[in-house]
Amino acid sequence: MTDHGGAGGAGPVRYAVPYPTVGATIGERELAAVREVLQADIPLSGGAYREMFEEKFREFIGTRHAISVTSGTVALELAIHLLDLQPGDEVIATPQTYQATIQPLLNYDIKVRFADIEAHSPNISVSEVEKLLTKNTRAVILVHYGGLPVDMRPLMQLSENHGFAVIEDAAHALGSMYCGRRPGSIGHIGCFSFHSSKNITTLGEGGMITLNRDDWAERLRRIRGNEADMDLLGYEQTFGVSRDPPPHALYPGRAYTHICSAFRRAGTNATLSEPASAMGLVQLERLPELAARRRQIAARISDELSAISGVRLPDQSADMVHAYHLFTFFVDAEQYDRDELIRCLADQGVETYLRYFPLHLLPEWRARGHCLGECPVAERSWFFEHVNLPCHPGMSDDQVEALTAALSAALLKVRRR
Ligand SMILES: Cc1ncc(COP(=O)(O)O)c(C=O)c1O
Repeated sequence: MTDHGGAGGAGPVRYAVPYPTVGATIGERELAAVREVLQADIPLSGGAYREMFEEKFREFIGTRHAISVTSGTVALELAIHLLDLQPGDEVIATPQTYQATIQPLLNYDIKVRFADIEAHSPNISVSEVEKLLTKNTRAVILVHYGGLPVDMRPLMQLSENHGFAVIEDAAHALGSMYCGRRPGSIGHIGCFSFHSSKNITTLGEGGMITLNRDDWAERLRRIRGNEADMDLLGYEQTFGVSRDPPPHALYPGRAYTHICSAFRRAGTNATLSEPASAMGLVQLERLPELAARRRQIAARISDELSAISGVRLPDQSADMVHAYHLFTFFVDAEQYDRDELIRCLADQGVETYLRYFPLHLLPEWRARGHCLGECPVAERSWFFEHVNLPCHPGMSDDQVEALTAALSAALLKVRRR
């Protein structure tokens, strides 16, 4: 399963209103920024552009640190690594997200509990999370689905009361707001994707981790740069050599006794390149414009749907700003055959997506004992109710009008009498 194929299949269908292949539009400014880096006769990795991009991103999200990596998947893998999960620990996760959100948990000997989504939103239900808490709960992993913020206030209250960490998968939520704060700054760790399909892109692939803890940030910077993740205590005493001679020489008055007492994992190279970072800088500056276009299109589609019975939009409170990475609506399964609706939309040139197949039903999670019936709301939504429509800044006004006309016509046509 990929996050990038449409419900219409992989065939050579040309849609009049396609789902985005490039969600963020690339313009002259991005091209100029990349050209400048490529022609500057500088190393294309590990330099000033990456640092500038991280600094701007950190400021924008409102965290102490923003650490770039090569994809959202890597961001999540490293974020989960920071939890130092031990056998017997438990993590609560949403079943309604892309597989990368929780896939790294498969590498740990821990118990994952899937908390069902809300009745009227694709987001994790905080009351379901509360029911699944045990003394072993170490973390909750959520996604702000499609850019609709999770109700973070009660979740963070639970986190404070019970002492678990919260990882926000904010891959869709760049441009969203919750109670005046940006997703990715509310939990303990935020993970972003700059994949080609996302709200901004860094040459097609890229990611960012946002967080406030200095020790975690230091560990991440080391791992990302191919340094082993370990507690460097007593290294010099044990081996009689300093791991890092130059810094050691700079601190003669301090015992520079770092070490291998606890080896946690090998490092890797997850460095975002300079051209990618240069494009990210421009895209981040353009985010308000790109996000406004998404909201404008979403408002037009919502308006069209408001006149039609048997369809509903996800619940959204007044203190939330939706980034509309995805435009999602639900049909009443008594009134509509959702699959027939999708076929009818495809016949009229509108490409749709279904996202996401409930994760607890994927083979790898079934192999760990998860089964049908575990998250009935997410299952019903996937099999019978939810539809994602094209909604991206690359759409023209004509495409938006073609989409809304096709939508009304299709809903009328497939409605059960
Ligand atoms: C919710 C979510 N999380 C994580 C990812 C992984 O991001 P990437 O494609 O950058 O690895 C995606 C991407 O497609 C996603 O949609």
